Amino acid sequence: MNSMLRLNCVIALAVGFATSLSFAAGTGEDPGVTRGRYVARITGCNDCHTPGYAESGGKVAESDWLVGSPVGFKGPWGVTYPANLRLIAQTMNEDAWVVFAREPRRPPMPWSSLRDMNDGDLRALYRYIHSLGPKGAQAPAYAPPGTVVSTPWILFEPQNLPKQVDAVR
Ligand code: HEC
Repeated sequence: MNSMLRLNCVIALAVGFATSLSFAAGTGEDPGVTRGRYVARITGCNDCHTPGYAESGGKVAESDWLVGSPVGFKGPWGVTYPANLRLIAQTMNEDAWVVFAREPRRPPMPWSSLRDMNDGDLRALYRYIHSLGPKGAQAPAYAPPGTVVSTPWILFEPQNLPKQVDAVR
């Protein structure tokens, strides 16, 4: 390699390095957090875990995201409440979250989506949720079938199903 070419390479490397540095400095955000925000948005966590999000098409300030909901989902499983993910993220580290996030849950939590998420997406989700910081109260505890609950709830049970015999025809 002649010296001119070598100098060009060094300059190109230096410019590339400086660009990536200024990019990181410009946003000031951990790329994991950026990816986690994206994953949270496109996988619908806010629809249940952020009050008002689904009803408004996402018009909820980001500072209020993922605080859980006191409105339950009532079905044959009892009444379940979308957990406050921001408080949960403060109680564990990233490795523990990866295990915790893949555990089975009651409906309508789409837990199989979390189970099937790759480690990178799960870790990014953790970084993002953790970065939001703690906010809000814990969601009410799960109520088994037959328990009288005083919170509001959404009835999450099929209505007006065709009779079995009709469905077979
Ligand atoms: C359709 C509504 C719904 C959606 C969408 C949803 N969740 Fe949930 N989630 C729930 C409910 C309800 C529970 C409580 C389940 C239970 O009691 O077993 C829950 C529980 C959880 C838990 C367990 C909390 C605990 O303390 O046991 C985690 C973690 C969680 N959700 C994360 C997520 C993430 C991350 C997303 C987005 C990928 C998401 N959820 C999307 C409704 C939802």
